[in-house]
Amino acid sequence: MTHDEALEAIRGADDPVAAAVEVLERGFEHYSWVGIYLVEGDDLVLGPWRGPEATEHTRIPVGQGVCGAAAASGLTEIVDDVNADPRYLACFPSTRSEIVVPIALDGRVVGEIDIDSDRPAAFGDEDREFLEQVAASIAPHCP
Ligand code: SME
Repeated sequence: MTHDEALEAIRGADDPVAAAVEVLERGFEHYSWVGIYLVEGDDLVLGPWRGPEATEHTRIPVGQGVCGAAAASGLTEIVDDVNADPRYLACFPSTRSEIVVPIALDGRVVGEIDIDSDRPAAFGDEDREFLEQVAASIAPHCP
């Protein structure tokens, strides 16, 4: 699937947030697990997700983990080797790299897209640009 096809499918869906996790997990082989966390007070709470296994990290305080760091800064985090990052909260033994893209609305972080890959250093600038476009598309639909 191309990035444009994915963006079109997400933007045209009745529920763009749910569609985003489905389209990203299905459409891109190096996206092994895809979840959306939504900000609730000082926590990130797991919303829709797709992948082989559930994660135990369904609630993450802002500031903790790679997810919490991205929520605190509002900046995309790319971790090439999760085992070398002391912030990393482990979910799946197979995960080697991770990208977390904040979802911002009116200058406030309302959630984030979290993607784990079983490949080392799976995420680059193309993923960042694409996923930041996805985040902007779904931001108005985040509760
Ligand atoms: N690895 C994340 C926690 C979420 S799981 O990857 C689904 C982190 O370090 O914040």
